[in-house]
Amino acid sequence: MSTEKTITLHVNGHDEIATVPPHRTLLEALRGLGHVDVKCGCEKGDCGACAVLVDGEAVDSCLTLARSAEGREITTLQGLGTPEAPHPLQQSFSELGAAQCGYCTPGMIIASESLLRKNPSPTDEDVRIALSGNLCRCTGYVKIFEAVHAAAAVKRQTGETK
Ligand code: FES
Ligand code: FES
Repeated sequence: MSTEKTITLHVNGHDEIATVPPHRTLLEALRGLGHVDVKCGCEKGDCGACAVLVDGEAVDSCLTLARSAEGREITTLQGLGTPEAPHPLQQSFSELGAAQCGYCTPGMIIASESLLRKNPSPTDEDVRIALSGNLCRCTGYVKIFEAVHAAAAVKRQTGETK
């Protein structure tokens, strides 16, 4: 008897269908659906590259079972903004040189957005703690922290909550 199950994932505002065995992670399911903006790094919860928002909270999709995300609101990096209308974090990461190779960037921006939704005026320590599960081998982190503060300021000015 097949243990596969067809589920509906609500990703970036759209319903998408996936047929998954019980052990399929949300990371594998999302990338299988073409969401390659969700990056595959360590696959064991160490690097944060695979972070997505689930009901507004950043989670490591490599540690989340696809079936457990059914019926929940999933947002990937591409769900936050487009090249024509970038999210403030996408804009600030780009303008301030907070992305180099870019592999960590989707996870960094997702974790930052999760923080800013809860805390629009984070201290530097708040930012460092919020991003402590996200590893970057390129930037030295300083520009990333600056970009988060810059985006927070824009969001406060414009009154954006998302
Ligand atoms: S790929 Fe998920 S935390 Fe590294
Ligand atoms: S920009 Fe390369 S890992 Fe962060």
